[in-house]
Amino acid sequence: MKLHDIFQRPLRDLRISVTDHCNFRCGYCMPADRTYTFLPKSQVLTLEEIAELAGIFAAHGTRKLRITGGEPLLRRGLVDLIAMLSSIPGIEDIALTTNGFALKRLAAPLKEAGLNRVTVSLDSLDPAVFAELSGTKIATPASTLAAIDHAASVGLPVKINTVVQRGVNDNEIISLLETFRERGHTLRFIEFMDVGSLNRWDRTRVVPAVEIRERVAEVFPFEPVEPAYHGEVAGRFRFLDGKGEFGIISSVTQPFCGSCNRARLSAEGKLYTCLFAKDGHDLKTLLREQGPQAVADSLRRVWRARDDRYSELRGREDQPKEKVEMFHIGG
Ligand code: GTP
Ligand code: 5AD
Ligand code: SF4
Ligand code: SF4
Repeated sequence: MKLHDIFQRPLRDLRISVTDHCNFRCGYCMPADRTYTFLPKSQVLTLEEIAELAGIFAAHGTRKLRITGGEPLLRRGLVDLIAMLSSIPGIEDIALTTNGFALKRLAAPLKEAGLNRVTVSLDSLDPAVFAELSGTKIATPASTLAAIDHAASVGLPVKINTVVQRGVNDNEIISLLETFRERGHTLRFIEFMDVGSLNRWDRTRVVPAVEIRERVAEVFPFEPVEPAYHGEVAGRFRFLDGKGEFGIISSVTQPFCGSCNRARLSAEGKLYTCLFAKDGHDLKTLLREQGPQAVADSLRRVWRARDDRYSELRGREDQPKEKVEMFHIGG
């Protein structure tokens, strides 16, 4: 069954957060100067529950799954989960967004279990800037690059995500591109977004997509590429010298809500219809207390009533001030 929301947007993608834990403390997600209460185990969906819910989404038109966190590689049993998800009829693509730390250990088994590709977050090649941004000493730019190379070596296509912040890492746009062009991976620059309420977002730190394009064009001529699929988040650009492509995710200056076909499931089993939503719909309790049919009914009701388009309305007075935090929803 195909579901459409009130703007006729289908339910194509499901982003599943498998844990709210992370071993990094990126300032725009989980600032290091705070303490966190993580979800108790009893409130986190079991692997079987995640797979059962994903099956219900697939039966309503979902074709792509993206595994997120917190840091998804910290979830115990993740390899078994990928195996369960990859056997769900209708699921065509399973991807995962990670900080890369545990890829050395997990890339091969994940690939073996059916993971199709990975996206690794890396905001700086400068060790001092990396340490400051990631809030951790357990990883460095070099260790993250090694993790990326390892994932590629076991046959996983790799993309890189870089959140660009003015005055922080925008001087690395070209060096990052050079690094990943040589390796044959697609780098995507992400405009710094006002996710959650902890990240002290400030519009002056956003480097608009147009400016990123101009800066790249001065060094590497490129042309636009058609989206790989309807509703793709990143604008795509191909280098004219044939050395691959890069992307820009411009949620702030060029919102893409019109084609947003993404649902999000938090680790505690709440369905969010927008990255910037305040609350989710509790599918876990429905599943535990009333079973899969009640979940399917609720999913249909919620998606058909969906009218989210936060990025298009950003800045308007009536927009929610309280929003779910990044590490609960996974981006
Ligand atoms: P592909 O499947 O490779 O196209 O990945 P993706 O870009 O959909 O996923 P990824 O986890 O790499 O997300 C990249 C960035 O886009 C992150 O900063 C996400 O928070 C952001 N993003 C993803 N989906 C949405 C969305 O629906 N709205 C907004 N505003 N940002 C999004
Ligand atoms: N704005 C833009 N991207 C963000 N990410 C985390 N916080 C933000 C933010 N405030 C990115 C991470 C990761 C992806 C899931 O989202 O770097 O690559
Ligand atoms: Fe962890 Fe990713 Fe959040 Fe950084 S952005 S703290 S790596 S979940
Ligand atoms: Fe979708 Fe909300 Fe992002 Fe708009 S802001 S693209 S509705 S998740």
